[in-house]
Amino acid sequence: MGKVYVFDHPLIQHKLTYIRDKNTGTKEFRELVEEVATLMAFEITRDLPLEEVEIETPVSKAKAKVIAGKKLGVIPILRAGMGMVDGILKLIPAAKVGHIGLYRDPETLKPVEYYVKLPTDVEERDFIIVDPMLATGGSAIEAINALKKRGAKSIKFMCLIAAPEGVEAVKNAHPDVDIYIAALDEKLNDHGYIVPGLGDAGDRLFGTK
Ligand code: PRP
Ligand code: URA
Repeated sequence: MGKVYVFDHPLIQHKLTYIRDKNTGTKEFRELVEEVATLMAFEITRDLPLEEVEIETPVSKAKAKVIAGKKLGVIPILRAGMGMVDGILKLIPAAKVGHIGLYRDPETLKPVEYYVKLPTDVEERDFIIVDPMLATGGSAIEAINALKKRGAKSIKFMCLIAAPEGVEAVKNAHPDVDIYIAALDEKLNDHGYIVPGLGDAGDRLFGTK
């Protein structure tokens, strides 16, 4: 069964409080989402393999460690996942970025796929799918399906806020995928919104509605 990691670092929790606040405007919301994504990327890359290289400091020769050429891919689920990409690329700028376009039908709450563009070497990459919200889990499950269908072997899912229902659904559908979240909220409401959540992530990021 996939593992669930809650990154409850004080900086992440602090910033998340302002992300949730309905009085936080679009500019600040966007900046905070990016910052939390950077902090989460720091944690999620903890297991990257290292290799030893020889360098010369101003004082002497030294053996030191660098990241061993791991091929990473960041996949935002459009639209709201876009808000997390730059924050992650700040720490891992060599990662390739693919896109999966899904929207949740407001009536059925089922995800509808409208765009997929991935790096060419899908089978060799370790992927991190990013989306601020994991609600019913439908979008995450569909995005993971889309990646697996094209040959992906290694996938992590990272979001800011998750509902227990969504976490269970992803764990059941994709037991090989670990889930990384900043907060596990209480429940979903009748419209499939996370309670207390932050509202509609895409609308708050892009100032639409
Ligand atoms: C939101 C969110 C997730 C999805 C989560 O996207 O960004 O992708 O809903 O809900 P689920 O877990 O029940 O599938 P939305 O469909 O509103 O599209 P948008 O990002 O384009 O606004
Ligand atoms: N999508 C959002 O943007 N917010 C929610 O609470 C649920 C789905």
